[in-house]
Amino acid sequence: MAAPKKKLSSARLTQPTNAFVEEFTASVQFDQRMYNQDIQGSIAHATMLASVDVLTNDERDQIIAGLETIRTEIDNDEFEWSIAQEDVHMNIEARLIALIGDVGKKLHTGRSRNDQVATDVRLYLRDMIAPIKSELHRLQDALLMVAEREADTILPGFTHLQVAQPITFGHHMMAWYEMLVRDTERLEDCAKRVNSSPLGAAALAGTTFPINREMTAELLGFDRICLNSLDAVSDRDFAIEFNSFASILMMHLSRFSEELIIWSSAQFNFVDLGDSFCTGSSIMPQKKNPDVPELIRGKTSRVYGNMFNLFTLMKNQPLAYNKDNQEDKEPLFDTIDTLLGSLRVYADMMGAITVKPENMRNAALRGYATATDLADYLVRKGVAFRDAHEVVGLSVAYGIKHNQDLSEMSLETLQSFSDHITDDVFDVLTLEGSVAARDHLGGTAPNQVRSAIRYAKSQRND
Ligand code: ARG
Repeated sequence: MAAPKKKLSSARLTQPTNAFVEEFTASVQFDQRMYNQDIQGSIAHATMLASVDVLTNDERDQIIAGLETIRTEIDNDEFEWSIAQEDVHMNIEARLIALIGDVGKKLHTGRSRNDQVATDVRLYLRDMIAPIKSELHRLQDALLMVAEREADTILPGFTHLQVAQPITFGHHMMAWYEMLVRDTERLEDCAKRVNSSPLGAAALAGTTFPINREMTAELLGFDRICLNSLDAVSDRDFAIEFNSFASILMMHLSRFSEELIIWSSAQFNFVDLGDSFCTGSSIMPQKKNPDVPELIRGKTSRVYGNMFNLFTLMKNQPLAYNKDNQEDKEPLFDTIDTLLGSLRVYADMMGAITVKPENMRNAALRGYATATDLADYLVRKGVAFRDAHEVVGLSVAYGIKHNQDLSEMSLETLQSFSDHITDDVFDVLTLEGSVAARDHLGGTAPNQVRSAIRYAKSQRND
């Protein structure tokens, strides 16, 4: 950071700021990442001021040219950020004045840092929502690809982490996909409220200049204007809403991760995550650790932490702007960064995942996964479901004792439990028969999985 320059906002104060207080209250260390949005907002503001004759066209042009120069300086890492100028807004304004002289001092007419920062944060978040959405879609595409490839692949489905019924791997992938559809909807919904313009609210009450808020909103691509100036400068709901969306999405990724971790263990051995997404151990030569999913599970906590951070930040604030709000940026930025990184690595990882159909099949064969199919079979033969449940329970107990799956029992053995059983029973006891029979909307049958994939593709509008 460069040596302190003269402050832009200190004439009323007779004593210089304590050196540590200056550093303590500064935000330029982390808000400089919004420089593009800050410049964009200032250009719109200057353009509007000229249109209502608060600035001349010449003044406007000098200001815009100066701001463009500053943008290039920052882009090229030639800008000297200064703690003494506190934040991104004053750093840029001070540099503008240094570059173009007194005309630069007119830029802040009819504006406050309070509406300026609220505008910058909204613009920044809006700009980051686009890449987040495209990473989300990349992950969805990867899931669709795996679902399509593994539409017929059978694995045991679990409830209580106990083998329940056979399902298809494609169906399982489409369950994850559904969660991401809802996440995308939440993001799109939140994006509407992010895209509202606070500019013109000034410090809190509006301004005495004849500003045109519609014009700045339109220049900046906002869909609407924040209608109350007090609310405009103090509202951070949009950031909390975004973080809530992010928390739910990370919760989903964390659940997926939990399954990948279990599936890639030696005990399950259902999937291979690929060497490029795992690491070894510094001491145990045999290890291939699922670091990426574990880390995603860990990073979920960060995003939750950021959510509580933002909630707590807002809960005690009276209207309108309070300096507390400066603390909104780091959690929000951290959530954005974490989300982008997590989605990116997840999409790549799912693109590289391979499954082990033999192991999944054997696991499905071991857990009496077709017991419900046998009960349903008996119901079709006229047995009441509760009685059928009982019959199958006894068959399973027999199987456990004799280490036999239902499909491995002889017809005579099965008939000893119910005389409704005939030799067509073996059709329903196979894993293929079991999944194929769940052939309705939302069921696990391979052709339902294929139709779910077709539907999913038809709904995509990215
Ligand atoms: N750096 C400040 C923030 O992040 C900008 C707004 C400062 N406004 C003020 N009245 N001190 O919120």
